[in-house]
Amino acid sequence: MKVDKVRLRLMLVVTVMMLNLSCCSAWFGNKRKSGRNINLPGESMSSRTSLMNHAAAGSSIVFPIYGNVYPVGFYNVTLNIGQPPRPYFLDVDTGSELTWLQCDAPCSQCSETPHPLYKPSNDFVPCKDPLCASLQPSDDYTCEDPNQCDYEIKYADQYSTLGVLLNDVYLLNFTNGVQLRVRMALGCGYDQIFSPSSYHPLDGVLGLGRGKASLVSQLNSQGLVRNVIGHCLSSRGGGYIFFGNAYDSSQMSWTPISSIHSGKHYSAGPAELVFGGRKTGVGSLDIIFDTGSSYTYFNSQAYHALISLVNKELHRKPLKVAPDDQTLPMCWHGKTPFRSINEVKKYFKPLVLSFSNGGKVRSQFEIPPEAYLIISKKGNVCLGILNGPEVGLGEVNLIGDISMLDKVMVFDNEKELIGWGPSADCNGVPKSRDVSL
Ligand SMILES: *[C@@H]1O[C@H](CO)[C@@H](O)[C@H](O)[C@H]1NC(C)=O
Ligand SMILES: *[C@@H]1O[C@H](CO)[C@@H](O)[C@H](O)[C@H]1NC(C)=O
Repeated sequence: MKVDKVRLRLMLVVTVMMLNLSCCSAWFGNKRKSGRNINLPGESMSSRTSLMNHAAAGSSIVFPIYGNVYPVGFYNVTLNIGQPPRPYFLDVDTGSELTWLQCDAPCSQCSETPHPLYKPSNDFVPCKDPLCASLQPSDDYTCEDPNQCDYEIKYADQYSTLGVLLNDVYLLNFTNGVQLRVRMALGCGYDQIFSPSSYHPLDGVLGLGRGKASLVSQLNSQGLVRNVIGHCLSSRGGGYIFFGNAYDSSQMSWTPISSIHSGKHYSAGPAELVFGGRKTGVGSLDIIFDTGSSYTYFNSQAYHALISLVNKELHRKPLKVAPDDQTLPMCWHGKTPFRSINEVKKYFKPLVLSFSNGGKVRSQFEIPPEAYLIISKKGNVCLGILNGPEVGLGEVNLIGDISMLDKVMVFDNEKELIGWGPSADCNGVPKSRDVSL
């Protein structure tokens, strides 16, 4: 299957790790011994932050984001990191935990980056720190050097990164107008392996997953925001992400976060698949919500049920399979090229994932045709729901960017709830709805 620009940033549980670390950590260690001792005000910085915490407590942070599902294939956010702060473009990923930058440690394998490589601070996170523990595959991990936290992250698309955990300063604007320099951990990634399809010209990844090391969890433990993240991805491109309570709770539907998949992902379920208002007989679906994936992936049963229902609907409609269009595995052409989804959405029916919520009130996650179709460069309409097992996802059903378009999505790690609601406009940054912690 050849698929153009498909991204799948979903953290896999790494079972065997640190294979070649003896080489690289020693090498990173040499760098430290070479006397480049920048005097980082570690202690004073954290006390300054805590003095200022009350100024921001209960506030939130909103970041505009750039990108689209197609043709760009990802969303990026700008973060200002370091002393002095420098801007970096990061891939927005709710499917993984750690925020990291391609890093001049020096770098043994980095891709081309929009900005100069991040120069690491020498404020190392120790190996037994809880943030380091959160990035390791098991609790009884070994420390080659107790003063340093080495990690390896593998994502579902064969992308992997090897790095070391540091503290550095993030410059953040809170919605109440306060600007803070917050010292938090970040990864210095000095050895990346890309597959051509996963390559994006970015400086790093913004990990918004559920672990202790994620930025929002670190901000929360400093008393700065509630441990809640959310996003609104616009079908016209762009949108915003937020930390804290920057959303209107009046029209939200909620379902509990389930603890499957190591508790690190925003997973929910079981859900039933409904097509055009009718039950499909496909149920017991485990769902993961992941902005690191541009498209949606279904398990084999749900995928094949969907394909056959869609094809049945298209029978006697003026759409024919376009096997020569390689944009996505399944495309259809009309008599003349299409320019917008609005011209074709009448031929398709809405999908719904119906969450049982333990037998109580069901929550319906609606996926209208606009949230599962794209118009390719050739003017064909293509299905943005792909077959998970073909990319190694097995039974997992992954809701990617395409199916979360024009919705406010909220991931509340304190109440352990996932919520969604309609959005009039993801390009309008939300009015502040700040509440106290
Ligand atoms: C990332 O976003 C910035 C806007 O902040 C934009 O200028 C840049 O082109 C984007 N980078 C990529 C690779 O899309
Ligand atoms: C933060 O606020 C300052 C001052 O209001 C502004 O100049 C800057 O662009 C903002 N930075 C970000 C990342 O929004």
